[in-house]
Amino acid sequence: MTTLKIAAYPGDGIGPEVTAEAMRVLSAAARLEPELHLEFTTLPWGIEYWKQHGRCVPENFLSIVRPFDAILLGAVGWPALLPDHETLWPLVQIRQAFDQYACMRPAKLYRGLKSVLAGKGPAEIDFVVLRENSEGEYVDNGGRLKRGTPDEFAVQTAVHTRKGVERILRYGFEMARKRRKKLTMVTKSNAQRHAYVLWDDILAELAPQYPDIESERQHCDACAMNMVRWPEKFGVVVASNLFGDLLTDLGGVLAGGLGLAPSTNTNPERNFPSMFEPVHGSAPDIAGKGIANPIAAILSGAMLLDHLDHPAAAARIRTAVEETLLSGAATPDLGGKLTTEQMGSAVLANVT
Ligand code: IPM
Ligand code: MN
Repeated sequence: MTTLKIAAYPGDGIGPEVTAEAMRVLSAAARLEPELHLEFTTLPWGIEYWKQHGRCVPENFLSIVRPFDAILLGAVGWPALLPDHETLWPLVQIRQAFDQYACMRPAKLYRGLKSVLAGKGPAEIDFVVLRENSEGEYVDNGGRLKRGTPDEFAVQTAVHTRKGVERILRYGFEMARKRRKKLTMVTKSNAQRHAYVLWDDILAELAPQYPDIESERQHCDACAMNMVRWPEKFGVVVASNLFGDLLTDLGGVLAGGLGLAPSTNTNPERNFPSMFEPVHGSAPDIAGKGIANPIAAILSGAMLLDHLDHPAAAARIRTAVEETLLSGAATPDLGGKLTTEQMGSAVLANVT
């Protein structure tokens, strides 16, 4: 019997609502596996924790999370009470401290759903964005000087390392073997001629080692346009941290909406726990109403099981989601009337 210890970090806003459904579905899928047991520990962190303790997470939060096999995150942030850059910082720290450098965000339109793109269906919208998740534009490197004076200025310098760029590109090449055999690397090397030209150089070095994969470069502005007009031309998109962030909100909406878009923060070497979370945020506007779509959180749970070598359980969840969506079950974001819990139950009923 394998027991997987999972830290559930529901967070803020709709985070707890969607995480509860993901936990129900994950547990049901695990029960069907003869040798798998999931043990959830809920971490009560976020804005409520801040109200009591004056901080969103305990000081030693990284060492608390470290022993778990994986982290299932809901969403963080409550901008009416605390600025996002404060509430969201622990999330970025987990990604960086645990070297979760591969952020995998599939943009797959399920059957039975309509994309915002006219004339594009499930056959056309099925690519993955692989976001470099450990460095780049998200490194906490900079400062603000002459605060409050007319000469005030800020510097924030991105860090792109050869090691960091090479490993995410290799991960992308490997992944492309199973996805249209095509890799698109996204930068802005026509304007930023130091960091992104390093990316260009490394791609040129690696491409000959993967002769079975067609690789190309696109600048981020053009890529945003191309994803809208020709989503079918993408297989694996590898992007820096910030560009990956931008393109995955776009990918999410192309694939039916952010209520459906899952995500990993993977440490492929498994030296640290990886973290799984929906791409959407805490959505304070609909928090507490019980109408958030739990599918993105549920599919993130499937990615967790895949990562921890339980592909059969993961497949059960994905198939259940597929059948549920095909049956027309829908929360308000998809034009339906189901509550978060009803949608979770609909998926649960299809977990067989
Ligand atoms: C995401 C989010 C985060 C990011 C925020 C919450 C820091 O937008 O996971 O896409 O920018 O990475
Ligand atoms: Mn984002």
